[in-house]
Amino acid sequence: MSRLVVVSNRVAVPDAQSATTGGLAVALRDALQTNGGIWFGWSGKTAAHTAEQPTMTEIGPVTYATLDLGRKDYNEYYNGFANRTLWPLFHYRLDLAEFSHQNYTGYLRVNSLFADKLRPLIEDDDQVWVHDYHLIPMGRELRARGVGQAMGFFLHTPFPAMEVLLALPSHALLVESLCAYDVVGFQTENDLRAFRDYVIHEAKGEMLDDQTVRAFGRLVHTEVFPIGIERGQMEAAAEAAVEQGAARRLERTLNNRNLMIGVDRLDYSKGIPERFRSFERFMEQYPAHRGQVSMMQIAPLSRSEVPEYKAIRDQLEGLAGYINGRYGDFDWMPLHYLTKNFQRETLAGFFRLSRVGVVTPLRDGMNLVAKEYVASQDPNYPGVLVLSRFAGAARELDAALLVNPYDHDGVAAALNKGLVMSLEERRERWQSMMEKVRENSLEAWRERFLKVLRSVPTPMPVKGAR
Ligand code: F6P
Repeated sequence: MSRLVVVSNRVAVPDAQSATTGGLAVALRDALQTNGGIWFGWSGKTAAHTAEQPTMTEIGPVTYATLDLGRKDYNEYYNGFANRTLWPLFHYRLDLAEFSHQNYTGYLRVNSLFADKLRPLIEDDDQVWVHDYHLIPMGRELRARGVGQAMGFFLHTPFPAMEVLLALPSHALLVESLCAYDVVGFQTENDLRAFRDYVIHEAKGEMLDDQTVRAFGRLVHTEVFPIGIERGQMEAAAEAAVEQGAARRLERTLNNRNLMIGVDRLDYSKGIPERFRSFERFMEQYPAHRGQVSMMQIAPLSRSEVPEYKAIRDQLEGLAGYINGRYGDFDWMPLHYLTKNFQRETLAGFFRLSRVGVVTPLRDGMNLVAKEYVASQDPNYPGVLVLSRFAGAARELDAALLVNPYDHDGVAAALNKGLVMSLEERRERWQSMMEKVRENSLEAWRERFLKVLRSVPTPMPVKGAR
């Protein structure tokens, strides 16, 4: 069995002292542990200059190779092109996307530098799996350095419709770079369709069969691999957490009132201001719930050096204050807004106590919070998920109350419906969603992708090429 080389923007080197972290990090670590391998990427730390050599940390059969980024690289590659250009563009926020030649150059420079540092670590029969929008050019850079074996790429975010992508001055090179991989995976059919649309209509490529794209002189296997959550982990955590400190305290403060919960990184793609507006509309239109229900929004700060993230934080503080000022009472607050970070185990307990889970992004690759909310429920008394149709998760969790997050009246009606829904309907909807969550776990996602990566001919022959 060949080794696995995982490349991602951020690498969390496990700390022998703490057994925290979960999700994707654990799933990939498990895959690395099976046959040994390397996890390469940014350490999450900045320095005056980008490190000359990666720091190598060996833990069992896994080597973590991480680089500190210099301020210039961090600003241009991470804060700049990745998070001020690609992120808004991939989430359909052309109004927020900034096109700076300097940041684009920085993005290419860091990808090329990462490839320089990674190349000597790769052995001939390693499988290479690159993750996410920060590292799209990585495959092309590695090919240019003689890496000939199977290389896969998975995009965790949405892939935008062709008309949106065309606004990016460097769209052609970006898609050509994606075609340097042998397998390109997307979260949903929508993303896959958008990619193929671009390849066929803009790049004049073609589909050779249901899954193989021919473009830019290469054959690429394209497929949908919806990401999931760890099997059994949230269920067990939620069951344990309701008996413990934080969840118990939360339950006491609720005083028999219902709770609605939202948990998101503080990001404009998550639709939090729109959610607050919908909650306000709900208070307005369903007065019987005033004093009877609270919404808790947990939104840990993220990418705080990017101006658009500072702006949304200010906006949310204003809105939360306004709603509480308008509807709150001396013994009841309608909206609890926290930017504090909580452990996933604690969140699992909060989810289980919440009658309604509110997951209403304006656009999201998948949204694992939706799946975590479902997995955390008490099977006998499950809560109701209100889910944006624009989250990738809506494809699988179609038994949720699906909403359009821009439609405040519609979301307000769904919040009300979630609160008054019969226990029988709650159970039916929950069972249907839980089956999907169980079936398509994080482990199943990983194995499906790696199986395809193992089976593609490498490099994929270009039929008809001279
Ligand atoms: O795909 C979204 C993503 O980039 C994830 O890979 C990551 O875990 C999350 O957003 C957080 O982003 P950041 O690394 O910028 O804090």
